[in-house]
Amino acid sequence: MNSIPRVPLPRIPIVCLAGFMGSGKSTVGARLAQHLGWRFVDLDERIEAASGITIPQFFERHGEPAFRQLEADELRAALGRAVEQKEPTILALGGGTYAQPGAPEFLRNAGVPVIWLDARIEVLLSRCMTMTGRPLFRDEASFRALHTQRIVSYQLADFRVDSSGDAAAVVAEILRRGIAGVPAADLEAHLELEKPKP
Ligand code: S3P
Repeated sequence: MNSIPRVPLPRIPIVCLAGFMGSGKSTVGARLAQHLGWRFVDLDERIEAASGITIPQFFERHGEPAFRQLEADELRAALGRAVEQKEPTILALGGGTYAQPGAPEFLRNAGVPVIWLDARIEVLLSRCMTMTGRPLFRDEASFRALHTQRIVSYQLADFRVDSSGDAAAVVAEILRRGIAGVPAADLEAHLELEKPKP
């Protein structure tokens, strides 16, 4: 094989926010991005734009497996776009994105750090009770069961930040700990990491 020099991938800071429904991914993500002057991408919004229908409509018409497929495609596309456009990006995942098989490994291999926004179940419940548009929020019992089932996945995130309080406090905590703000590949080397508690 003739030797084409390997061009290192540009070090674009990209940070993903993971966490259960109601954990504040979109609200915190938008505020954090604004503060840093980075682009904010909401994966759920990308899915709705790509499909031309709302998420509840998508679940109803095509079912969850098709939703997960589109979600994975849009995740790849969002990361690809950030790198291509050299745009520092905060990417809010959907509540189930990081809990899908292979997702934590995919993001780790891509060198994208993930922050788990972790709020108390009562807080999550109260936030979701008052909002529509979440096909996987049916009733309290199934909500709690899904949360329990997904905890093991969220625990694989690089960072855990308590998001039971208001969004401004969560953003302040992320900034205080220096989690965002340096190129993804430099994070491990430069930061004092607080690993999720097992
Ligand atoms: C989902 C959470 C939703 C959305 C979809 C599925 C889930 O995102 O992606 O309804 O599996 O928990 P939010 O966490 O932003 O509500």
